[in-house]
Amino acid sequence: MISGMTSSVCLRDFTKDFFLKQEKRLTEVYPGLTLSILYRYLEGYGVERQMSLDHLFDQVYTPGPHNLWTVFFQQMEQGVPLEYIIGRAYFYRSEFYVNQHVLIPRHETEILVEFVLAEMKRLALESPDDLKVCDVGTGCGAILLSLMRDSHRTVQGLGIDLSLEALKVAKRNDFYLRFTRSKNSHSRFLLSDRLSEVTEKQHVIVSNPPYIPWSFAKENVHPQVKRYEPHMALFLPDEIYEQWFTEFFQQVDDLLFQGGVFMMEGHEDQLENLLKILQKCSFKQVMIVNDLTGRSRFLKALK
Ligand SMILES: C[S@@+](CC[C@H](N)C(=O)[O-])C[C@H]1O[C@@H](n2cnc3c(N)ncnc32)[C@H](O)[C@@H]1O
Repeated sequence: MISGMTSSVCLRDFTKDFFLKQEKRLTEVYPGLTLSILYRYLEGYGVERQMSLDHLFDQVYTPGPHNLWTVFFQQMEQGVPLEYIIGRAYFYRSEFYVNQHVLIPRHETEILVEFVLAEMKRLALESPDDLKVCDVGTGCGAILLSLMRDSHRTVQGLGIDLSLEALKVAKRNDFYLRFTRSKNSHSRFLLSDRLSEVTEKQHVIVSNPPYIPWSFAKENVHPQVKRYEPHMALFLPDEIYEQWFTEFFQQVDDLLFQGGVFMMEGHEDQLENLLKILQKCSFKQVMIVNDLTGRSRFLKALK
């Protein structure tokens, strides 16, 4: 559709035309998309490529295979998530670089950051030490780097992932956000299957692990998510689901300091089962925590 066009047009007009001509299809693929939101993404795309915002939309656009904007619109036609197209996503109070090796951080996960920050405040009152905070399945680093940014106490942060490519993204974000935290806080990133490579005890272990069972994903996950986001970040085969979490919770149990806390996001339908597994470990207290809409969303364990 785009490659066939050659005449020059102002970018704003082209974008408007592009959106209005296929609004129904685009809003199916990108729920909630409006023309003004699309303009904002376009701006983000320009900024990422160091284009000045002045006159961005007034510039003359000549569609063609080597034009950057053509790449933008072609990717939209294929349904690539807008965050991947512009290479950025917003989470909590920061902007994160993202690519197709990492999950696009979800707003639902921001509340997990809030809950964990409250626990970190409590832990800071109980001990004068730096807080050791470990994020299992760190992806682009959204949870760990947000916790480090808003912590009142110095943090020694550890981000873990089984994907080397995800760790590269997390390290890039760590570099971008290094000035957002106290100067004595430090972070490091480790390739590990859950906590198997970790030996140092932690005050806080947080995780948004892959928690969607494959059988559920088949029917219920948006096709765009299945097509573009890393499956390793989202899904677990049903056959290994229970075993995977049993091993993970055992590792958490072994690695938390007394008084430490574990929090993870989970699948609403699975939390009761996972709670039973947590109850078999040696935690003082375990519970399901609701999100702000009252839905079961998280697990919490106090050591
Ligand atoms: C749901 S994503 C969460 C990403 C990020 N923490 C967030 O909340 O946006 C899960 C992450 O866990 C990682 N992962 C999957 N299996 C893992 C394993 N066995 N050990 C460590 N990380 C794993 C994936 O690569 C992915 O980055």
